[in-house]
Amino acid sequence: MSKFDLTRADYCPETLAVRAGQERSQFGEHSEALYLTSSFVFKSAAQAAKRFSGEEEGNVYARFSNPTVTMFEERLAALEGAEDCVATASGMSAIMAVVLAHLKNGDHIVASNGLFGATVQLFSNILARTGISTTFVPQTDPAAWAAAIRPETKLFFLETPSNPLTEIADISALTVIAHAKGILVAVDNCFCTPILQRPLELGADLVVHSATKFLDGQGRVLGGAVCGPKKLTEEVFKYLRTAGPTLSAFNAWVLLKGLETLKLRVEAQSANAAQLAAWLEAHPKVARLLSWLAVTPTI
Ligand SMILES: Cc1ncc(COP(=O)(O)O)c(C=O)c1O
Repeated sequence: MSKFDLTRADYCPETLAVRAGQERSQFGEHSEALYLTSSFVFKSAAQAAKRFSGEEEGNVYARFSNPTVTMFEERLAALEGAEDCVATASGMSAIMAVVLAHLKNGDHIVASNGLFGATVQLFSNILARTGISTTFVPQTDPAAWAAAIRPETKLFFLETPSNPLTEIADISALTVIAHAKGILVAVDNCFCTPILQRPLELGADLVVHSATKFLDGQGRVLGGAVCGPKKLTEEVFKYLRTAGPTLSAFNAWVLLKGLETLKLRVEAQSANAAQLAAWLEAHPKVARLLSWLAVTPTI
């Protein structure tokens, strides 16, 4: 097996998007291999015992890990500038995994009131039933986030820009407020993708993705991911390997192909959106544009 060397810090996102994480087998395949297998074989019973106990690294069972999924995780981690990434079956399962990995009955979340509808339902109905409560505050008002903090607050959850209102949160300001009280900050980076915004560089602890959206970018598969430091993603991994909403190898392979064109697509989409917004703004029958996002890639 040969692996792309990620130790060089000077790789640009275009290179990372096609190379990071790739691990070639002895066959020297050009495209990443698709490992369609539910489990893995061992050289001996002793090796199996070591793999199951975690004493030896390696694949055991696809609910835990799969080489194609690992390649996707490493590629997305490289793009987000994260130490680690854990892939999930969907964006919703990524959000669920963050909360259930780090919070328990009695804990409290502060979240923006403009979150994607299913996330609001997850927090206010499903998680509320487990004793994890949420206060929703305006995304754009850091003072409201500070005022909502309780002794039991463990997580700030924001989605910026929000879906569908495209409200923007000040990630750095919210992170300063949260960290002063030992609260984790998770950012749903689904809309911007790491091409336009890297929340970890702005101080966030965890980044959540619905890979179903721009990471795939071609409407083919569902997927999700959680990126961040290993000390935080490890808990997410433990939740996933037990509860089971892991990414399938096939979807990971499709997402690897999606990432290869991510920068080109996001740049084209941003240019098209800016052109459309400018046209609408100048149109005599349009009084006001609610949201005018002219975004320029930052990396
Ligand atoms: C911002 C945001 N987060 C999360 C999700 C959920 O992702 P998935 O559909 O992959 O579960 C969506 C889906 O539209 C979304 O727009």
